[in-house]
Amino acid sequence: MLDANLRLNLASFVTTWMEPECDKFIMAAINKNHFDMDKRVKGAKTAPLTGLEENLVRWDASVIYGSNGEVLKRLRTFKDGKIKISEEGELLHNENGIAVSGDVRNSWAGVSTLQTLFVHEHNSVCDALKKNYPELDDKEIYRHARLVTSAVIAKIHTIDWTVELLKTDTLLAGMRVNWYGLLGKKFKDTFGHVGGAILGGLVGLKRPNNHGVPYSLTEEFVSVYRMHSLLPDNLQLRDISATPDPNKSPPLIKEIPMKNLIGLEGEKTLTKIGVASQIVSMGHQACGTLELWNYPMWLRDLIPQNLDGSERPDHVDLPVLEIYRDRERNVARYNQFRRALLLIPISKWEDLTDDKEAIEVLEDVYGDDVEELDLLVGLMAEKKIKGFAISETAFIIFLLMATRRLEADRFFTSNFNEETYTKKGLEWVNSTESLKDVIDRHYPEITLKWLNSSSAFSVWDSPPNTSNSIPLYLRVPH
Ligand code: HEM
Repeated sequence: MLDANLRLNLASFVTTWMEPECDKFIMAAINKNHFDMDKRVKGAKTAPLTGLEENLVRWDASVIYGSNGEVLKRLRTFKDGKIKISEEGELLHNENGIAVSGDVRNSWAGVSTLQTLFVHEHNSVCDALKKNYPELDDKEIYRHARLVTSAVIAKIHTIDWTVELLKTDTLLAGMRVNWYGLLGKKFKDTFGHVGGAILGGLVGLKRPNNHGVPYSLTEEFVSVYRMHSLLPDNLQLRDISATPDPNKSPPLIKEIPMKNLIGLEGEKTLTKIGVASQIVSMGHQACGTLELWNYPMWLRDLIPQNLDGSERPDHVDLPVLEIYRDRERNVARYNQFRRALLLIPISKWEDLTDDKEAIEVLEDVYGDDVEELDLLVGLMAEKKIKGFAISETAFIIFLLMATRRLEADRFFTSNFNEETYTKKGLEWVNSTESLKDVIDRHYPEITLKWLNSSSAFSVWDSPPNTSNSIPLYLRVPH
């Protein structure tokens, strides 16, 4: 129903709160989208006619709460602020086998697992708020708990996930400065936000800074986030009932093709596997690399879903669709994209990669015209900086957006206070540092038994980080 509607794209859904004031932000941002009529391919009068993409990027907590009032209501219990979950602590399913959860389109067992985890988180925040503030009614508890849970997700994204993706001290320092400032966590926990963005961090700034553009994320961000090559071909299912070895590596039971883990089939498989086994199995499996020739073949024949999670009749070839989307939306090609970021463009294929086979194929497809290189192909082909899972080109957008996501949002700046979150809620956000903390809270038995690494985003049986006596902000980048 919403397909081909220009007014409903990514920026329309990036919020942490969906009350009337927020609608004003959204409406203000809509016409600032990079995805607008003026920039569309010649002759295209509407948004992508093949459009399937709205609501897909789960940057906000809509994956838990839904993106519209109807879903929002459907998920609430209307008692003590809580969201629905089965007695066994699993997602509920409707009569068509679709998960009763937030954004369910094009979902897979991994997303459903995270949805389950964060519903538990939301409901635990509700318990804590109810205990501390018995005078709050259901709606007030729900609103505060939703803000707290959204902030926990944003914090994990900033200081845990992004850091693991680009494993360097420099990035760790950068992301922690974004959240805590140069003065650090201990100082901030004791004295609150002091100084500007650098000293005190973006979170807790007196007012948001949107650099003249109302809160929104750009089409370019969507394009660099096209990371389907991270997905494996099979899930390696682990036996979590076994006795752990010193590295905490659970034995492999079997490999389950990813095809059985997506969409409606995926929901059935997850019910059989159970959330705890799914978390441990995903934790022990490395993701795919963002390189050429690593796009999962099973995504070339994919059953896409409608917004409500029901399946569409026509299959899609996702990698083809992705290139098509960028062209259709008139997202800059690779070289132009780099110029816009003040990065040096390539003048020959050898500037992009040392891989001779890749150069041959690039020549085959684009001839000598490096200006024609599609962004997504360039991002995958680009030589990576040591320690980086993503390209330098994508990294710049990540950095800009990771910062903007916090500094342009009033719920992380002027409204990051006790009045909005409650004292207990703010404490909850401040004391949650990682995905591991959240898993610990709801599935303590699995982290204790199977998590060896320091972060839940590392492969779980890898060694924990070694301690470094040099303070983080004084380490020399290498
Ligand atoms: C089993 C897992 C997944 C499935 C089945 C899936 C499927 C899809 C589908 C069908 C689309 C819509 C294509 C279109 O019409 O433009 C899409 C878009 C997208 N996906 Fe995935 N995806 C999965 C995982 C991921 C992952 C792991 C990432 C990134 C880390 C990702 C990032 C994106 C992005 C950025 C878009 C474009 C959204 C937009 O145009 O607004 N997806 N995905």
